[in-house]
Amino acid sequence: MLEDKLGRRFHYLRLSITDVCNFSCNYCLPDGYQCDSSRDFLNLDEIRHITSAFAQLGTSKIRITGGEPALRKDLTEIIAICAQTPGIEQVAITTNGFRLERDIDAWCKAGLTALNVSIDSLDPRQFADITGQNKLTTILQGVEKAVKAGIKVKINAVLLKPYSTNQLARFLEWIKQQPVTLRFIELMQTGDNQDFFRANHLSGEPIKQQLLQQGWSQIIRDKAAGPAQEFMHPDYVGRIGLIMPYSKDFCASCNRLRISSTGKLHLCLFAEQGLELRPLIQLGDQQALQNELVNLLGNKQATHWLQDGYTGATKNLAMLGG
Ligand code: 5AD
Ligand code: SF4
Repeated sequence: MLEDKLGRRFHYLRLSITDVCNFSCNYCLPDGYQCDSSRDFLNLDEIRHITSAFAQLGTSKIRITGGEPALRKDLTEIIAICAQTPGIEQVAITTNGFRLERDIDAWCKAGLTALNVSIDSLDPRQFADITGQNKLTTILQGVEKAVKAGIKVKINAVLLKPYSTNQLARFLEWIKQQPVTLRFIELMQTGDNQDFFRANHLSGEPIKQQLLQQGWSQIIRDKAAGPAQEFMHPDYVGRIGLIMPYSKDFCASCNRLRISSTGKLHLCLFAEQGLELRPLIQLGDQQALQNELVNLLGNKQATHWLQDGYTGATKNLAMLGG
């Protein structure tokens, strides 16, 4: 099992397969994707090697991320490779949802078990305002299809100050009937969004207090469940999650490692740099790759230092898929 010196266990891999995105979310890629880095992304063989190495070291869950993973034509094959790797029990993707309605059935057939869709507002105009894309209707239809297919669906909504009042009310109404977990994510400061962050960051804490007052109760989660706090309510089919990276002890329950789309290991979303693994991945020597992963994990830090305004090498979250 991959374990660091603080006793945290890493059974969860976030695998980025591209950093390209076709949306231009105002907190992430306000000017759209800029083609200024290598686009030589991990191929299927490389993905097979890295996935097996992690699985051999005890990883049981893989989340495929981007950029936008559905921009890769071989996404369905990538899902199948992950699902067929011995030891991998859960295969999830995080997507902006633009291909969801068309492809969800194929993804499920390939072995997908869970889906996160980013929807920052249920108001079509606000949605277009935030993402630069007028696609809320098809995304919501895709979500319905995914729910019907029986896989676990989470909706990610970044908390943004100007939209907060009706953002919350409308989402609450929606999850009365929708069996999804709606996760409010506090805006994180990245290298590129400093001014935007200062103007728009909203703490999740008042939302937590409001939920507790309105009869929501916090679910006691397993130690291995990761940093989100979850809430349920007898009158609602859906659940609520809160991700508050600026709260005390957020990093104590870190359970994930990240691989970038060009094969670098990131020990934290906000790490100083990615650690090169590609030559070893390409060599195909499983034992050497596993030894290197164990070795590099020795450098994982206790926390991200975000509260001190430190953002590491992370210019935006499209680089690494959040
Ligand atoms: N702060 C918080 N969440 C972000 N995301 C992207 N950029 C940020 C940011 N700066 C979210 C996306 C997506 C998830 C992967 O991360 O909306 O849901
Ligand atoms: Fe939006 Fe995600 Fe694309 Fe960033 S990577 S622009 S958050 S859809």
